[in-house]
Amino acid sequence: MKSVIKTCLLSLFIVNSMAAENSIGDKTVLNEPEAGSVSTQQGLDSWSRVYEVTSHPRCANCHVGNSPYPMWSGPSFTKTQRHGMNINAGASRMGVEYIMCSTCHTGSNSEADHGAPGVKDAWRLAPVEADWFGKSSVEICQQLRDPKRNGNRTYQEIASHLGHDVILHWAWNPGGEREPVPYSLQEHMDDIMLWGVAGMPCPDDINSNLNDGVSYE
Ligand code: HEC
Ligand code: HEC
Repeated sequence: MKSVIKTCLLSLFIVNSMAAENSIGDKTVLNEPEAGSVSTQQGLDSWSRVYEVTSHPRCANCHVGNSPYPMWSGPSFTKTQRHGMNINAGASRMGVEYIMCSTCHTGSNSEADHGAPGVKDAWRLAPVEADWFGKSSVEICQQLRDPKRNGNRTYQEIASHLGHDVILHWAWNPGGEREPVPYSLQEHMDDIMLWGVAGMPCPDDINSNLNDGVSYE
């Protein structure tokens, strides 16, 4: 077991050190709108575009919350279903306990029909807290603005994370006939910033009276 973990860490290191080159994130910038320049309504409009991205299968199929099962969808499938071949990410989120994701998901998209996609980062499921699959706009919004569940990030840190996190850049270059997520990475980062400056409003705030118990003033 120890050696499995060692090999796994080693391969993580190798993939990560390749991650710097040719990332679409290299071309992005953090545009901070002036404080007070974005209305709540404009913030909500930005949020609805952020939701289109985060709920899209190219993002949500890895952001499956508590489940250890990645999801499959796209042109070859009539509906979204559990990843085939009994894949289980385990507590490691990368299949150390069963079969490593990187066994099939290498550093680039496979050209083969139904081949496994890949990117220059270790393929794995997103953290449990970033639970987006099948979740509503309100649920994803409340998770993303909650420091306890968003990796303790400000909205600026979320946006800059998006620019640097190579694994998610795959969603803009998913390979095969897969549909990429809507909007560009830059537009997605800009929307996060607009939503943030507007005070991170969520669609149900008036009714729910901030029922997630966090204050955003
Ligand atoms: C035995 C090989 C294999 C392993 C191991 C494997 N996958 Fe896959 N995966 C595939 C193949 C093949 C596809 C492409 C299926 C298709 O599009 O027809 C795929 C596709 C995916 C997709 C894209 C789904 C979509 O519609 O956007 C995700 C996400 C994914 N796998 C996650 C994982 C994760 C996470 C792990 C590890 C826990 C993992 N896979 C382990 C073979 C594998
Ligand atoms: C191949 C699986 C995979 C896909 C596809 C994916 N993510 Fe992730 N995501 C991860 C992993 C793994 C992490 C945690 C590691 C990290 O932050 O680098 C993560 C973390 C995040 C975080 C930090 C959230 C937090 O609460 O910690 C954000 C934001 C995020 N992803 C956004 C996205 C967006 C937007 C998309 C689609 C454009 C996407 N991800 C697609 C695997 C994925």
